[in-house]
Amino acid sequence: MSYDYDVVVIGGGPGGYVAAIKAAQAGKKTAIIEKESLGGTCLNVGCIPTKALVKTVNVYEEILRSADFAIEGIDLSKVTVSMEKLQKRKQGIVRQLTGGVNALLKGNKVTILSGTARFADAHTVQIKEQSVTAGYFIIATGSETLMPGFIAYEGDTRIITSTEALSLQEIPESMVIIGGGVIGIEFAYIYAHLGTKVTVVELMEQILPMVDEDISKLARKSLEKAGVVFHTGAKVKKIKDTNVIFEKNGTEEAVNAEMTLMAVGRVPYTGELNAKGIGIAFDKKAIRTDEHMRTSVENIFAIGDVNGTSMLAHTASHEGITAVENILGEPAVMSYDAIPSCIYIEPEIASIGLTQKQAEEKYENIKVGKFPMSANGKSLIEGETGGMIKVILDGDLNEILGVHMFCVHATDMIAEVSAAMNLEASAEEVLHAVHPHPTVSEAVMEAFMSAYDKAVHAM
Ligand code: NAI
Repeated sequence: MSYDYDVVVIGGGPGGYVAAIKAAQAGKKTAIIEKESLGGTCLNVGCIPTKALVKTVNVYEEILRSADFAIEGIDLSKVTVSMEKLQKRKQGIVRQLTGGVNALLKGNKVTILSGTARFADAHTVQIKEQSVTAGYFIIATGSETLMPGFIAYEGDTRIITSTEALSLQEIPESMVIIGGGVIGIEFAYIYAHLGTKVTVVELMEQILPMVDEDISKLARKSLEKAGVVFHTGAKVKKIKDTNVIFEKNGTEEAVNAEMTLMAVGRVPYTGELNAKGIGIAFDKKAIRTDEHMRTSVENIFAIGDVNGTSMLAHTASHEGITAVENILGEPAVMSYDAIPSCIYIEPEIASIGLTQKQAEEKYENIKVGKFPMSANGKSLIEGETGGMIKVILDGDLNEILGVHMFCVHATDMIAEVSAAMNLEASAEEVLHAVHPHPTVSEAVMEAFMSAYDKAVHAM
């Protein structure tokens, strides 16, 4: 049986385009189908534009703190952020990166097909009237904002999602954010620093419930200093006009704001795909996959947010590579044990592996090392000393179970631990690696040392 393509990827986000390039590089005749803009949520309305906003906020903050760095002569009352110019800068970055993806795909001889794919059978998709056949399909259709059904909506609610929050033309006076997870906290950071009165309503007792408790507490303190008001242990029941009504400790409370940002999670998106129609099995809204990223239909793989496993761009790319390796006949397996997770506030949060609580539940004997950034020279120079690095080890084997950072450059530094965990390095091997001075990365080594009560620069 001959097909139009060896491999067709559906969806052009960081899962899909990486998979398409890898398949083409391996000599497979490859096409990618995208209904909107290449780059997916990450490049267009996710990771990249958010970080463009964060960068401006960080520059603005540094200017406001310029006196701390001995800079004089700036009339701070005149310093403002132009949302119009910020939007232009953000769009410029997005355009450059999506253009880059387009060029990479073309340079690798991947055919780009525009439109919405719908499965007709396991080897055929329709894009309107056009039929496209392939030996293998890789589904990479991403996710969409969850609009929870358990919240009642009444009147003129003014609800926005992260997509609209990225494109506001003016700085809002006030904003309620429902959900103190990753999206909620990144936007709380951005808008609170731009001057918006931000209130976060979070269901759990801790903001960023997935983050180690010590780090979550420090992040909360830092955001509260910037003016964010938190209601934790608070379940949103109803949004009536611009009032968000929630239940906390058995009593009903309400908070009113110009707009409400919904950030209680994202759900896998399969929209028009007809995946169920051709027999692909689901777990709720997620496409079920095995460790090779294969769906219940032999020649179809599913990667990225659509399989609901770990909704992160870098996971999606790695899953894409795993799927392609399997298509090429190499039985690659996707491991989720050492996937870094980053939150772009300032200082940054970066985590990998287990939190202390998770480690205590799983292991009898653990060692915990902590190093405060106030004892790190470079952090003092940077003017950011409120954070810490925390290391969790298996007490018997010295295996690295988890590392959590709240400090400047955390999102770059976590890659060191990712490499160490992937190489199955022991904690001693990390602490014996020479770290350059003066850097924030020395604090990683010191946190590892302190797990053995041996930190040099802290008592
Ligand atoms: P999330 O799962 O990170 O957080 C949702 C939060 O909403 C949770 O803390 C949850 O307890 C809370 N919640 C649920 N129901 C609630 C209710 N009725 N009232 C109040 N709070 C409620 O989801 P989020 O932040 O929407 O992000 C979606 C996905 O996008 C995540 O998988 C995240 O990892 C990913 N993402 C990653 C980023 C990064 O890596 N820097 C940035 C932004 C998003």
